[in-house]
Amino acid sequence: MTVTGAAGQIGYALLFRLAAGAVYGDEPLHLRLLEVESAVASLEGVVMELEDCAFPTLASVTTTADPEVAFAGADLCLLVGARPRSKGMSRGDLLEANGTIFAAQGAAIGRHASPDVKVLVTGNPANTNALIAASHATGVPAENITALTRLDHDRALARIARRTGRPVSELSRVVIWGNHSASQVPDLTHALAGSTPVTDLVDAEWAHGAFVTDVAHRGSAIIESRGGSSVGSAANATLAHARDWVNGTAGRWVSMGVVSHGEYGVPAGLVSSFPCTVDADGSWHIVEGLDLDPVVRERLAATSRELEDERDTAARLGLLGA
Ligand code: NAI
Repeated sequence: MTVTGAAGQIGYALLFRLAAGAVYGDEPLHLRLLEVESAVASLEGVVMELEDCAFPTLASVTTTADPEVAFAGADLCLLVGARPRSKGMSRGDLLEANGTIFAAQGAAIGRHASPDVKVLVTGNPANTNALIAASHATGVPAENITALTRLDHDRALARIARRTGRPVSELSRVVIWGNHSASQVPDLTHALAGSTPVTDLVDAEWAHGAFVTDVAHRGSAIIESRGGSSVGSAANATLAHARDWVNGTAGRWVSMGVVSHGEYGVPAGLVSSFPCTVDADGSWHIVEGLDLDPVVRERLAATSRELEDERDTAARLGLLGA
């Protein structure tokens, strides 16, 4: 399997857990780590540390700056590497800088990875980067390229646990809809604490107000507090998404950014977060037939429009393939 941006912060926070079996358990792991040329030397230091852990599950590690080597035969790719947004950079600038990376990596995945490869995009803007990668990954079904919204999902679980005093282990059916951005729609209207509807435990004002804004702006609050974006929690969410996609969720709902076929009015072809279940064979399904709260429905339409705008910007910049 492949990890990109492996010498970056999230890379450093996830590689050790990955090597210890966080996704594949006791199965031997062959890691291919991709970095830009200038970061390969630093990556070698990370590999020395991995070696020093003597993980019984870590069978081999390859480092490279060549996507063709990195993705050769890959069955799982965690696309973390991307340029972070710097001061004064607009969303369009970020899309342009990172879209180019994901277009090239999508193409390389199409040419060199296993045909049933699973690709998870963490690098931002994650949803549209996944769309761009999928448009270039010839021969790879769009369903096999997903985007990370699990961090938002886990943030929502934590907010509900704190508000209701119920442990996270009792909570289920929480949903993040839409884009991994401030327009995302955290939704607890279907959530349960044990068998009790969470809507019986919290007031509607909080459910549609502070709950939503706290989850959607949590990333900014963390930047403000620690002076840098989420790293440990983003690595944890990346591993949780990958683990559940590989092993299945046994009916449990998780939020995943996946290609829309028009579900809940989200235009087909966009990569949007939905409630999903994953079968033991790794095929995911959007939970269908939910009756959407009118406020949620309206916000979902707005976050979908933002995703359409991002897709149109990507098209204008020539970042979309066939
Ligand atoms: P970082 O800047 O510490 O690391 C990024 C790494 O990617 C760097 O080592 C860089 O050299 C590498 N890189 C850049 N271009 C590359 C390429 N073409 N091929 C391979 N590697 C490349 O950033 P950090 O903190 O690790 O974050 C990574 C990404 O994850 C960012 O885009 C960030 O916005 C995103 N993120 C996404 C979250 C989500 O919930 N979806 C949450 C938190 C961060």
